[in-house]
Amino acid sequence: MVNDDRERTPLWDCLIGQSGRVSFHMPGHRQGRAWPSSVSRQLSALDTTELLGTGDLAMPSGSVLEAFRLAANCFGAGRTWFITSGTTTSIMIMLASVLREGDVLLLPRAVHIAVVHAVALLGLKPIFIEAEDGRVFEDGQPDASAYIDSIRRHPEATACLVTYPDYYGRTVDLESIAHVAHEAGMFILVDEAHGAHFAFLPDQKPATALSLGADIVCQSAHKTLAALTPASLLHVSETAVQQQRIDLRRVDSMIRVFQTSSPSFLIAATIDRARAELESYGKERLERLQKLNTSFSKKLPSGFSRVFPKGADPSRLVLDFSEAGFCRKTLVHHLDRAGIDVEMIDISRIVLIPALDQPEEDYTRLLDALYSLSVIKEKVERQTLTQTRRDLSQKLDQLLSAPAAFQKMPREALFGQDEFSAVTPYPPGLPVLWPGEPVREEHRSFLQLLHEIGIAVRGIDLTLSS
Ligand SMILES: Cc1ncc(COP(=O)(O)O)c(C=O)c1O
Repeated sequence: MVNDDRERTPLWDCLIGQSGRVSFHMPGHRQGRAWPSSVSRQLSALDTTELLGTGDLAMPSGSVLEAFRLAANCFGAGRTWFITSGTTTSIMIMLASVLREGDVLLLPRAVHIAVVHAVALLGLKPIFIEAEDGRVFEDGQPDASAYIDSIRRHPEATACLVTYPDYYGRTVDLESIAHVAHEAGMFILVDEAHGAHFAFLPDQKPATALSLGADIVCQSAHKTLAALTPASLLHVSETAVQQQRIDLRRVDSMIRVFQTSSPSFLIAATIDRARAELESYGKERLERLQKLNTSFSKKLPSGFSRVFPKGADPSRLVLDFSEAGFCRKTLVHHLDRAGIDVEMIDISRIVLIPALDQPEEDYTRLLDALYSLSVIKEKVERQTLTQTRRDLSQKLDQLLSAPAAFQKMPREALFGQDEFSAVTPYPPGLPVLWPGEPVREEHRSFLQLLHEIGIAVRGIDLTLSS
């Protein structure tokens, strides 16, 4: 029995069993199907450490430096680095490059958890973007006027962090925010994890964070490009380099602090390849995706609609199912049984990340799956379901836009005696509470309702009463 156990490879077997599914999910290479078979065969040979001929990812020279330079040119940066442990690491490096312990960082409450952890690790003082009139932001994402008001109210801040685009592909008027922040002497730091393809979007709309005035930008290459997980790009803008506003030696040194001493050449090489592919075919592939998304959206069954506000990424596909007559868990299981992996399903929306080469037949399979869902016929039951979803979404928006209620600063809370961690519903993975904020009954009862519709909640044990 013990011997049998030793020979078992559950994870390997599980992943092998996943092959052949329809993927509207990151990574953008779709289980290697985006690559010619020669590339898949070569991958293992590229898994090397720094040798005489390879250069060093931590001290760029030779082919590494050349690949970084080509990437900087492609993405419109002054300097670019490949980070092979995800945008999670790039975010740490970005913040550590310009902020010191105790510095004030302006940002929304609703940021990726990596930002929360970086703030705690670095001992920063977070100030949340709030609307003076108490407005609630959709999915906790403030509009430009709220950013600008906060920047004016807090001239003591060293930097302002913006997520651009958000998970749903929406953007904010970053140019205006950057303009006001620079006038106030602040850095603009951008989490562009979902926008590595932006430089090649039709008519360059939405525009890249770098072209709109960001000083430092992080992008996940594996999310929307054909690069291995977790490939990330870290860029410093041309202006910041020219004006020497950012100390590039400090960026280099923070890369050595936060990245493994054995960065993956394999992952880095796929960033190099994804960049070249983007330059050669990116524009036409993104135009094709835009058309596929538009024609798909016209054929949706009743109860579904595409969420595509002005300024959003046309290559992202977000479907609202709040009026469709089935519960979330039914949808999750139905798509799984149909062999379709979507990026996420939140309270009322499906988020899909079509890959640059997503086959048209995958859209057809998705459409067939949506049409074959059995819906609740009873009118009152349907109305109750729709109303519950509306109420849950509104409550989530309200919690994600709430003013800060720190009893302790995030560093002391996360690493001190009492263990306050961030509390985050998954999906979408945005913190309703930061480390150091107390859990109130309104959080507990709301999170319990999310748990009942199959949304996992991290950072809190819902079985314990307050
Ligand atoms: C907005 C945002 N920022 C940062 C990250 C972290 O990126 P990575 O998975 O490359 O570490 C994610 C991951 O989902 C994200 O959605």
